[in-house]
Amino acid sequence: MSAFELHWMGGVAERLHAAHRGDLDAMPWHQLDPRAFGPEDLDHARICWTQGAHQEWCAAAGFSALLTALLHARAPVDVIGMAGSFVADEMVHTELNARMAAAVGGGVHLEVDPARLCPTPEGEPLWQAVELALRVSCVGESFSLPVLGASARHAHHPLVRAVLKRIAADEAPHARLGWVVLDWALPLLSDDDRDRLGHVAREAIAELRRGLAPEATLSKSRCEVSGCLPPSRYAEVAEAALSRRIVTPLAARGIHAA
Ligand SMILES: [Fe+2]
Ligand SMILES: [Fe+2]
Repeated sequence: MSAFELHWMGGVAERLHAAHRGDLDAMPWHQLDPRAFGPEDLDHARICWTQGAHQEWCAAAGFSALLTALLHARAPVDVIGMAGSFVADEMVHTELNARMAAAVGGGVHLEVDPARLCPTPEGEPLWQAVELALRVSCVGESFSLPVLGASARHAHHPLVRAVLKRIAADEAPHARLGWVVLDWALPLLSDDDRDRLGHVAREAIAELRRGLAPEATLSKSRCEVSGCLPPSRYAEVAEAALSRRIVTPLAARGIHAA
């Protein structure tokens, strides 16, 4: 285990990264006044945004592993090409979450296990690519896309809304990739492999449910500064995401995750 900390190189790395991410400084950072919120709301927000930065970091690791697996599996050129910039997108999301944590008082200490950044499936290259696509994109990103969209629409604070909107805008292609990979790879897999994929999907959904359980109650101000949905709304959005965006499209491909 080690502390989750972020560093900048500066110079040419920063300039080329900025060319991809656009101008984040144009966001209304000055409009968030921490004095408008209570200390407990700010502490909660510091935890949420720090954990958010780490989740985005893990998403980058997931896409990096998936891209490597697709290359080993000789996936179609356009499938690999469509995902080439996703790691950079997730670095932008990491940065945005970290800047939000700084804006509400600073990131919190987070102990993380670098060996568990993303799934590490075993087996043939094709199987590894499919399992990663399923876990990272068909489940992970297909879930976060509607949750982030709903959070952005619900957010009252202009900075929180701008940050969530910016992140949500990237998630649609991230969520699309997994389904494209499945549509390419499923005809190459056996019926037994489809059954195994159902098992993987059920496991990934159970993991998601454990990791993203909302708190029982959240005050309006706490939701506002942390960018969280109120728990009842979160539960609605989460259930709809699981059923319509994950379980149903998997079932349509003969993979039973329910
Ligand atoms: Fe992201
Ligand atoms: Fe993403």
